[in-house]
Amino acid sequence: DGDVYKYYADGEWKKSSSNKSVAIINPTTRKTQYKVQACSQEEVNKVIDSAKSAQKLWAKTPLWKRAELLHKAAAILKENKAPIAECLVKEIAKPAKDAVTEVVRSGDLISYCAEEGVRILGEGKFLVSDSFPGNERTKYCLTSKIPLGVVLAIPPFNYPVNLAVSKIAPALIAGNSIVLKPPTQGAVSALHMVHCFHLAGFPKGLISCVTGKGSEIGDFLTLHPGVNCISFTGGDTGIAISKKAGMIPLQMELGGKDACIVLEDADLDLVAANIIKGGFSYSGQRCTAVKVVLVMESVADALVEKVKAKVAKLSVGPPENDSDITPVVSESSANFIEGLVLDAKQKGATFCQEYKREGNLIWPLLLDNVRPDMRIAWEEPFGPVLPVIRISSVEEGIHHCNASNFGLQGCVFTKDINKAMLISDAMETGTVQINSAPARGPDHFPFQGIKDSGIGSQGITNSINMMTKIKTTVINLP
Ligand code: G3H
Repeated sequence: DGDVYKYYADGEWKKSSSNKSVAIINPTTRKTQYKVQACSQEEVNKVIDSAKSAQKLWAKTPLWKRAELLHKAAAILKENKAPIAECLVKEIAKPAKDAVTEVVRSGDLISYCAEEGVRILGEGKFLVSDSFPGNERTKYCLTSKIPLGVVLAIPPFNYPVNLAVSKIAPALIAGNSIVLKPPTQGAVSALHMVHCFHLAGFPKGLISCVTGKGSEIGDFLTLHPGVNCISFTGGDTGIAISKKAGMIPLQMELGGKDACIVLEDADLDLVAANIIKGGFSYSGQRCTAVKVVLVMESVADALVEKVKAKVAKLSVGPPENDSDITPVVSESSANFIEGLVLDAKQKGATFCQEYKREGNLIWPLLLDNVRPDMRIAWEEPFGPVLPVIRISSVEEGIHHCNASNFGLQGCVFTKDINKAMLISDAMETGTVQINSAPARGPDHFPFQGIKDSGIGSQGITNSINMMTKIKTTVINLP
């Protein structure tokens, strides 16, 4: 039936033989916006078979040609930013301007990947044997980076286009094939993005996009013996995937509880601006969002006042209007956020604004005087609700940050660079930002979480390297 978006396999758009579809609920209207195919396990098998054979030829395609196709896909993606952004607005309620930014950023990421790939992969190493004790110069060793095979890419709902291409582009430039399983919310945006790769003219079967229910094809994909690498971004599911996956390289970016530590000498206007941007952009639905403010008691009143004034100016409404705060992705997500808010209320947090919710739309809320016994001190709301914990020493702040089971990013605000460096060293997170809110980009910077926030490092260079293995050839001289 024409209402259901087709999935992409063997260079064609296909209808699933399951005759089942998955509904995508618009977070704003809470009505079905789109439907996608519910692919079967048999269809997944076929896709992986095609990916396997297409990859063999692709690995032999000259690197410059692979780069050329990626540049083409990047250009087509950017040309089509408007319709793709429109899908992002409808599927995940991303504010209109941010949706366009996501697509443009994705095009830039693909091009950068192509450029970086030809450099990194265009080089190998040459070693000689006589540096190791007991050896003469009788062995020459040549190393190069070769592809892994089939890469399974599983991006999350919050960047269905950008966090898909951040896996697809490095995989392809390195000579791998791609099987993409988009999130349900965001699947149609992802299918449009895949269409841009289709138009660029990549070989059949090299890229495929299977949609469907996690319960039906999720484990089947991640446990599939034909998959040689998994790159996943999302929540706890990533921990389950890691525990079950076979002996293949994994790249996982999971949740975060990014702390913002504010010292007494910090520029409070700068801090407040970064708390707003870091804590409330896309309604807090970013793994790198500021998720807890740890502020020195002596400047806490002043900071809270400044943040409150800025929260009052945030526009709240539908994503089509480019509102700052838009409905969160689903009703269950809104219910979870509400649970954290009610728990904090019951345990005596100070509400800087009145708590207000209509459907999936939650008004921005700053909770002051949060204490460690409240769930929101530790859990990730993934919504526009931000706790403030007042600290009496920097050590207390570092301690709170390190007691978290997450370790994605963190930030520290101070004018004293020596203190900032010491605090950065002490924070057990993949990245620490000095005097700015956490963020993944620019996209060639290394990006990694520790503890429950993930394994492996991303960023363009690291992802290209991660999606290759080292091959050596040794020439033995007589
Ligand atoms: O949600 C997780 C993303 O990797 C965060 O990316 O810092 O660009 O928003 P961002």
